[in-house]
Amino acid sequence: MRADCVANSPGERGRRIARPDGRAAVTAPFEHGDVLSLDGVRSAQTRIGSHVRRTATVRSHGLSELLGTNVYLKLEMFQKTGAFKVRGAFNKMLTLTARQKRGGIVAASAGNHAQAVAFAARELAMRAVIMMPESTPRNYLNATRAYGAKVCLVDSLSDAFVRVPEYQARGWTYIHPFADPLVIAGQGTLGLEILDDVPDLTDVIVSIGGGGLAGGVALAIKPQRPAVRVWGVETVGADAMAQALSAGRVVELAQATSVAHTLCAPAVAETTLALAQQYLEDVVVVSDRDALAALRFLLEREKVLTEAASSCTLAAAELLRNSFTSDDHVVLVLCGGNVALEEIIA
Ligand SMILES: Cc1ncc(COP(=O)(O)O)c(C=O)c1O
Repeated sequence: MRADCVANSPGERGRRIARPDGRAAVTAPFEHGDVLSLDGVRSAQTRIGSHVRRTATVRSHGLSELLGTNVYLKLEMFQKTGAFKVRGAFNKMLTLTARQKRGGIVAASAGNHAQAVAFAARELAMRAVIMMPESTPRNYLNATRAYGAKVCLVDSLSDAFVRVPEYQARGWTYIHPFADPLVIAGQGTLGLEILDDVPDLTDVIVSIGGGGLAGGVALAIKPQRPAVRVWGVETVGADAMAQALSAGRVVELAQATSVAHTLCAPAVAETTLALAQQYLEDVVVVSDRDALAALRFLLEREKVLTEAASSCTLAAAELLRNSFTSDDHVVLVLCGGNVALEEIIA
């Protein structure tokens, strides 16, 4: 541990305590009303509207022909910081009290959440310290530092979560990457945009790490359009939600490893599991090889650079193609585009 990464600021005691697996172990009664609802997502949209980009959803002629249905791409890799994560980060951070804002933000992440929290903290004039594993790809580390956050390198993602409580105890506010209702509702704003842009929507395919994105998107769409099918996608080695759904409870992965680094949550949360149980059609697990092949295909044919956590939605669409008819309207959520080029160019 680096000496300059020891928490040292006095202040109010945090309400949420992180467990080593990243789940919130202590949750004080929630004070923001019905956040995990369509209304919660709509409130998030109003709250974060001036802080995030409204990304486009475009029809892909080539993919529509290939898959025999109407395929659209939600171009969320053009979001600020290159991924959807700023939606949830802003929705949470904009609700903090003046005292919490003064205390600073702490987060644990191996990727896009780190960048998002660092960026939002800079925009909202808060200080942020982010615990990141040594193995985090350099593009995420560089961007997080460039946004002005203090990065503390630790051995693993589990260690990153272990370090959080010492900061909370000194008044820093923890922003959980996927279990916090305000974070989930913030991610859901992406789903509202999809519904606006594709009125005939029948299917959405969205990737899952801890399940905040998929849960939020489902919350935005299902209450309005129950017939729309929301499909989750994970990669082999990072299939915490598929395992949790089949076990009927949260399952801890001994080790999460995948080329889709940002999907490698060690476990989902009770909240996101409940949302998946309630709303998801199914969770498809694709191989790293197929996710990478889809990444190259999207780059070459659609001219968009995505990370494997996004391109896996195309790999899943190929597996699901028999579920779609020529009248369906299927959206692939390209939720992030942060990838170090050396990882994808052989
Ligand atoms: C690009 C990208 N896609 C998907 C996910 C999964 O999001 P969640 O953890 O909310 O399921 C992440 C998480 O970091 C991500 O960065």
